Amino acid sequence: MKTPVPDYLQEIRDLCSTGAGGHLADYIPELAAVDPDRFAVSACTMDGVVYTAGDADAEFTIQSMSKPFAYALALRDRGIEAVLEKVAVEPSGDAFNQISLERTSGRPRNPMINIGAITTHTLVGPVGADEDERDEALAAGLSAFAGRRLEVDAAVMTSELRTAFRNRAMANLVRAGGIIDDDPDAAVRGYTRQCAYRVTVRDLAVMAVTLANGGVNPVTHERVISAPVARQVLAVMTTCGMYDAAGDWMSTVGIPAKSGVSGGIFGALPGQVGLGVFSPRLDEHGHSVEGVRTFERLSRDLELHLM
Ligand code: DON
Repeated sequence: MKTPVPDYLQEIRDLCSTGAGGHLADYIPELAAVDPDRFAVSACTMDGVVYTAGDADAEFTIQSMSKPFAYALALRDRGIEAVLEKVAVEPSGDAFNQISLERTSGRPRNPMINIGAITTHTLVGPVGADEDERDEALAAGLSAFAGRRLEVDAAVMTSELRTAFRNRAMANLVRAGGIIDDDPDAAVRGYTRQCAYRVTVRDLAVMAVTLANGGVNPVTHERVISAPVARQVLAVMTTCGMYDAAGDWMSTVGIPAKSGVSGGIFGALPGQVGLGVFSPRLDEHGHSVEGVRTFERLSRDLELHLM
């Protein structure tokens, strides 16, 4: 029997997982130890049907792909205006780990780069939440996006915390500038934990489609965030999600997206589909080489470009 979508995704896997180009992230020691040849792709439709091909059960850490969801939870918990007072929404044009602060306000330029994401992390949960309450708000929120309880990879978290010197420096900078009120060490600990949740490409596709669907998870039918919050998150993903390659990505792929150094990329096309890809070798921007190739292919074949 012919099964058009699974057959097509299988074909994508064969075409895009060539093993050529890129290298594993090595600034987080634990990430340098993964099998570089893994590849998986997934799509979730607006009615909650999930398709996968490749190593669909492979788990990897969410890393920077947690940033749009943490931003969504902060917007939900504190309101769009209050979050904008702390984190701007302008593309930085710089790499994800650069110190990109607005000159006059001292705000991080956007919530997708590390310095903005560390700040955003401190805004999840109710005002006055302690570290444990914030961790729990994140665990519950990320899990609601995925439609299943997500767990932290303690080895990756510990490994990154041992080498998180840049992130610690950045947390101290925003603390010194009065942007965050929290203990900077707690902010980095919580943010690093946020990056260490384990997901599969299936989770990414469901999390993505929840954004594409105006905040309602179409698998569980739970409203996770409001439609205006979903719109704000997708807008910021469009301009800032792919860091200093955001312009190239928008012109060639044209799908609001976010990458992570574990090798995942997810894309959320408003009103249409959620997509997830995983392949650990990265390019110079920290994006999965095969992931980018896969998105270029999906966008062209399925005419997914927003324009
Ligand atoms: O903070 C870091 O450096 C990592 N936990 C996440 C960075 C990341 O995923 C960058 N994206 N491609």
